[in-house]
Order: sequence, then C-alpha cells, then structure tokens
Amino acid sequence: MSLTLNDIKHPKISTWVNEMIAMCEPDNVVVVDGTQEEYDALMQKCVKAGLATKLAKKENCYLFRSLPSDVARVESRTFISSVKEEDAGPTNHWIDPSELKQTMRKLYKGCMHGRTMYVIPFCMGPLGSPISKNGIEVTDSEYVVLNMDIMTRAGKKVLDIFNADVNAEFVPCLHSVGKPLRECESDNGIWPCADVEYKYITQFPEERLIWSYGSGYGGNALLGKKCFALRIATVLARDEGWLAEHMLILKLTNPKGEVKYVTGAFPSACGKTNLAMLIPTIPGWKVETIGDDIAWMKFGKDGRLYAINPEAGFFGVAPGTSAESNKNALVSAEKNTIYTNCALTEDGDVWWEGIGYPAQGKLVDWKGKTRDALPKDKAPKGEEMAHPNARFTAPAKQCPCIAKEWEDPAGVPISAILFGGRRPSTIPLVHQSLSWNHGVFLGSIVGSEITAASTIDASQVGKIRRDPFAILPFCGYNMGDYFKHWIEIGQKSTEDKLPKIFYVNWFRKDANNEKLPGGFMWPGYGDNSRVLAWIFDRCNGVDNAVETPIGYMPKEGAINTDGLADYYKETLPQITKVDVEGWKKELADVKENHYPKFGKHLPKELSEIIDMIQDRLNKA
Ligand code: GDP
Ligand code: PGA
Ligand code: MN
Repeated sequence: MSLTLNDIKHPKISTWVNEMIAMCEPDNVVVVDGTQEEYDALMQKCVKAGLATKLAKKENCYLFRSLPSDVARVESRTFISSVKEEDAGPTNHWIDPSELKQTMRKLYKGCMHGRTMYVIPFCMGPLGSPISKNGIEVTDSEYVVLNMDIMTRAGKKVLDIFNADVNAEFVPCLHSVGKPLRECESDNGIWPCADVEYKYITQFPEERLIWSYGSGYGGNALLGKKCFALRIATVLARDEGWLAEHMLILKLTNPKGEVKYVTGAFPSACGKTNLAMLIPTIPGWKVETIGDDIAWMKFGKDGRLYAINPEAGFFGVAPGTSAESNKNALVSAEKNTIYTNCALTEDGDVWWEGIGYPAQGKLVDWKGKTRDALPKDKAPKGEEMAHPNARFTAPAKQCPCIAKEWEDPAGVPISAILFGGRRPSTIPLVHQSLSWNHGVFLGSIVGSEITAASTIDASQVGKIRRDPFAILPFCGYNMGDYFKHWIEIGQKSTEDKLPKIFYVNWFRKDANNEKLPGGFMWPGYGDNSRVLAWIFDRCNGVDNAVETPIGYMPKEGAINTDGLADYYKETLPQITKVDVEGWKKELADVKENHYPKFGKHLPKELSEIIDMIQDRLNKA
C-alpha cells in the first residue's frame, strides 16, 4: 500500500508539499514508501508507457532511452541563485532569486497535468548518522523515483524520522520534467523533458532550496546527488564547519592488515570510480570501496576528519567499463540496475563501446535505431551505439569490494586526501604537500589539459582548464570563499591529525615513445596501488620520501616496481622528478590567469604559497 499525504505528520513538509501541489496541479499525489512492490509497479508503468525495456539477460534490469537533448548535465542552464551575485562567485551562473522564481513559477504552473506527483522522503548518508542530511524531493518522473530508490535511502524509513521529530530539518527539492500531458495522452515511448531553453537547474543557497525544471537526466533530476549533496551541502558545510566534496572514499589495507582510509577529488572522467574499486597489482594489498563520487567529512571529537558516502548507489559511466578496466563496477551492475542510453542486443542485454567484447548481429542504438554491429566496434564520433555518457544506476551494496563499514554512521577516519586530473606534462606521478595550506593550494590548481580530442581549436591544445578541487560545476558559493573555508578547516585541528594531502597524476604522456600504450607513461588502473602503497607508508611516517622544491616525493626505489613492464620502469624516473621549468610556467599561469579571477576573495595564504614554491624553485 502506497503512502498518502495524510501519512506526513511533519507540518512544514505538509505545508510545502501542498504549496507545490497547488502550483504544479498533478492528477494524483503519492508518497513514496520505498518498498520493492512499489519499485516494481513503477517500473511496470514505465514499461507500459514505452519508456523502459526489461533486459532478458540480466535479473531485474531495465534500459531507458532519453531524448538526445537530455543526455547530460547542462552547466549553461545551472544556476546558483544567491541573493548577491558576488556570493555565486566568478565560476557559477547567476540570476537574481526573485526574478528567477518568477520565471520558474510560470513554468511550474500546471506542469504536472496528466501526471502523478511523487513525494520522496530521502536521506543522504547512512540512516542515523550525525553527518547525514534529509530531504524531500517532489517529482513527476517515475524514472527519478526509481533512480532515487537506488541512489539514496528513500521512503517510509525516512518519513518515520520526520514524523518522529516535527522540527527535523529537510532540504525541499522540486523537480518536474516540464511535460504536462493532455487528457488521455501518454508518453508513448518518448522520454519526457522540456526544450533546452526552458531547462533550469537552480539552487537557492540561502533558503537551502532546489528547483529543477525540464530535464530528466541524473545530475539534473536526482536532486539528492549533485544539487543537494554538493551545491547545497557545500554551503551547509561552510556555515557548519565541515567539508562536502566531489571525492571518492576508499579503504586501503596493507599486507600486515593495517587499514587507512583515503579520499580523492578528480574531475569528472578522471578516474574516481576506477580508483575506488581498483584491484591492486601488488601482492598483499587490498582496496575496498566506501564511495565513488561524493564525500562528506566532519571532525570527530579526536580532531580527525571522518567521512561518509552520502549516496547508496553508483551512477557510473558505462562506456569504457569492462572486465579488464573495472570488473567490480560491472559486477555491481549485474542485477537490480537501471541502464540509460546503452545499446540493446538481440538477446536482451546491454552493450556499449569499450565493454570488452564485440557486439553480435543487430543492435538497437541509444537513439532507438536498429543497426548492424560495426565490424571493429569503433564508431565514428557521434555515431556510437551507446551514448558516450550512457550510465548505469546500481546499488552500492552489490559491489564485490564494498567495505563492510561503508554505512557506518560514524564515518571513517581519513588519513590522506588526493587531488588529481589529466595532466600530460609537468605534474609528477605523486607528490605530498609540505603543509595543510600547501595542500589547499594544490587542490585550488587542479585541472586537466585540453587535448586534441576535445577541441578543434589547435591553439587551445595543451592549455589547462582549471577545475579547483574538481568541484567547479558543483560549488554552491563563491569559489574564493570556498578556498578560504578549506584554509579555516586546517586551523580547526593539528597537522598530525589532519589528513595528509597528495597530488597524483596517472596521465603523464610521451607521444614519442611508441612502446607506451596510449602514450601514457604510467600504466594506471590496478597499478595505481603502487602509489597508494607509498602514500599509506607516508601516513605511517616511513622514511620513503625526499623533500623537493614542490613537496615530498618518492625516494629512489620507494615505489614498488615488481612486475612492471620494463618500459614503465624506464619512464618512472622521469615522472617522479621535479620539472623545474614546467613548474615555473605552471605557477606563472596560476598567478596570471587563474587566481586573478577570484579578486579579493582569494585568501592571501594561497598567494603566499605561490611565492614560497617559486622561491624554492629559483634556488633549485
Ligand atoms: P570518474 O568520472 O572520475 O568516476 O572516472 P572513471 O573512473 O569513470 O574513469 C573515467 C575514464 O578514465 C575511463 O575511461 C577510465 O578508463 C579512465 N581511467 C581511469 N583510471 C585511469 C588510469 O589510472 N589511467 C588511465 N590512463 N585511464 C584511467
Ligand atoms: P558527472 O555527474 O558528470 O560528474 O559524473 C554525474 C551526473 O551528471 O549526475
Ligand atoms: Mn564516477
């Protein structure tokens, strides 16, 4: 039996939901209970509407196809609508909140005609954790309810928390696909969403409020994820003295059975999910997963930072995921998984580019067209069978390497924080900051180099696109103030208790060395365990480092190379030494092009770090 509005005993939630009903005018209202029966019934509704296909080959798995205009986040339509423009910072789109609300109210008026409004009580983080936060999402999309069921703790167990405490806080999240139906009209196999110019993904930071209109895509519609757990949570974290970050969390065990927990911030498509689930190539070491995308970290009484994964599932990129590249992700998505924009095989399975085996016979591509499998499985750009941003939504508990404490309400104590990105030159394989503030500096300069593959403008190639802390599209306030918040976090504890900060780079390239697969000077993936092992030992104070002008780096022989191909043994010295000239240019670029954007919001501590490193490099 579904829950109804009468089951909500929390006055503020009732009032808010009733206002949303009055504005959106749905045909029906259902309060989501989170049961399997409800999930199955909603999925059947999607199958009947022609939106979902059951996969014969995978237990309780379904495939959805979106419209080509609704396949990813749309940063140009994403707004931080703070009262003052300056508070949205130089890196976010901004519209005045009263103006934007007026625009969006017009769109929301009657937008749920012909549809059901689902009221989803959800919790970000383990139930009962002091670090967790609750929200209510109202949506007119069954797809959203189904995905939220996997990605968050949702339903009656969360409603019970609200009903038990009429003062319990919640983040109100309003979502509509923006596609009202006329009487007797159905979606009839067409993914509902609005045209791009009507899409708005809006965060109102002062009110801790989210309004999303016109898109059904994950990051735009599953409002617990990027909108709440990052954009709103960064603001809460600033005000309450903790950290909400775009970071994986992993558990690392050494051959002696000692455990350390590590978080890592890499921009989208730079290897978070892979690192969180890696299978070490060095004997005796073990990596287990706590989270693959978002970390919330708060100080414990002992002065250490404890992290939880606010999510309950993985919203992973399918293309490129294979038994070779990330077996644990594949196994996680074997059952009870929602696939979006993958290709469909004749025998009722999903397929994507880079799945590790060729497709057979005919496929239905992500646009719904039946096509012959290509001989080499390599489609020209734009003609892939699966969309390059095709996704799987899989329950985290199905991950073969999920850590037993992944839902521990206390969180896990973090020993090391990693920053990284795709940097073909300059940045070494690994270096450790000299201090907390130097670590904040490293986070602030994170970026990926633009490659020939991502631009047609040759003058752009090699330039660095900065993505500070990998949180550029997800920071809910002024990025300069965010840097300052990180500096202040470092003042709340002592260096011995704070996590050590490292910058890693799996992506150094040498185009002239033909022996290197993909031109990469480091094998990456499971072999990143060799770097994790060095980091682990650093945290134990092992004498395995030398102090260089840019920070601590591995002593000769301190990175385990047993079993590495000879050509990687040859490249290792190059990627573990300081590129003095490269770093001088790097710092000049930060000083001239990156930091000035933040104006008076840039903390002076960061400028001091540049001067300090420049000075050390000049003496080198
Ligand atoms: P996320 O978006 O940050 O979670 O990134 P993913 O883990 O999904 O990886 C994004 C892409 O980077 C995939 O194509 C991976 O195969 C690739 N990748 C991940 N780790 C490595 C690595 O260590 N080396 C190299 N060369 N590629 C990697
Ligand atoms: P991502 O975001 O692009 O950082 O993976 C996922 C999403 O769009 O929800
Ligand atoms: Mn990922």
